[in-house]
Amino acid sequence: MPEFSCDVCGASFALRFAYQQVANRRAKRHVCSEKCRDTLLAGSRPAKREVRRLAVMNHKGGTGKTTTAVNLAAGLADSGAEVLLVDADAQGHVAVSLGVRGPRSLYHVMVEGVPVQEAVVRVSSGLSVLSSDETLASAEVWLARMEHQRHQILRTRMASVTDYDYVVIDCGPSLSLLNMNALYFSGEVIIPVACDFLSLVGLRQAMKTIERVNSLLAHPVRVLGVLPTFYDQRNRISDESVERLRARFGDRVMSPIRVNTRLKEAPSFKQTIFDYAPQSRGATDYRRLVREVKRESSV
Ligand SMILES: Nc1ncnc2c1ncn2[C@@H]1O[C@H](COP(=O)(O)OP(=O)(O)O)[C@@H](O)[C@H]1O
Ligand SMILES: [Mg+2]
Repeated sequence: MPEFSCDVCGASFALRFAYQQVANRRAKRHVCSEKCRDTLLAGSRPAKREVRRLAVMNHKGGTGKTTTAVNLAAGLADSGAEVLLVDADAQGHVAVSLGVRGPRSLYHVMVEGVPVQEAVVRVSSGLSVLSSDETLASAEVWLARMEHQRHQILRTRMASVTDYDYVVIDCGPSLSLLNMNALYFSGEVIIPVACDFLSLVGLRQAMKTIERVNSLLAHPVRVLGVLPTFYDQRNRISDESVERLRARFGDRVMSPIRVNTRLKEAPSFKQTIFDYAPQSRGATDYRRLVREVKRESSV
């Protein structure tokens, strides 16, 4: 049997097990033991990445949160980033929109402490999803019963998640403990606001929660941007809404996402807008959002 020399400790050994051959940075390496293999793999890992954590949040339903979270995550992945999209809404719309069904969900990670990597499903190159379904509602009850640190669970559970450039969280439309967890975990927030009067009310509530997280939890969350959605240039209310947002938030108001039927249709085909209708206005607008997010450096 041919003798090999271990690439880690230098010992001579005979090749007997599959794990003794490691494809490492395109070269084949040989190791004598599992311990040496682990040492080799640890050494070949890229330096710990700076993970940007973005929550897409607004207390109001139907403002384009899920559409934004899904297409922002997909667009970032298309641009070469490694992205984890987390669904923090018990309605489970992320999984439905992308047609993913994993054996485990955010509930298992939050409540049962299942490691994140065991619950994540790879959707396409660069894009992975940690999905949710209606069981997440009981995570809210579980959190409410906790006496201490109930806003910190998500951050604790995600502490080991460093393999991504971005984690994007799709939040539910409520003032829930889950959303507090999402904010406490996140460094930045994007607030999609539909271009109508009532949505501006939801925006005020969202801002209050962010201020609360910042002061009560002593955790700086930055409003990366307020994103006007359902923008329709034929309606005066659209321009009025954007003007009011600009008066309040200045250059933190991002370029609007126009009303586009293709955006509405894409989820029924389990596709992102970039796969379903790459030439559409929806794809153009979300591509622009991706560029705006990438241009902004993290806090
Ligand atoms: N820019 C848009 N143009 C047309 N329809 C949209 C647009 N953005 C979202 N939608 C549709 O509006 C509905 C609500 O959007 P969604 O992203 O689910 O909002 P939320 O997650 O805030 O409840 C969905 O049917 C979605 O497909
Ligand atoms: Mg949603």
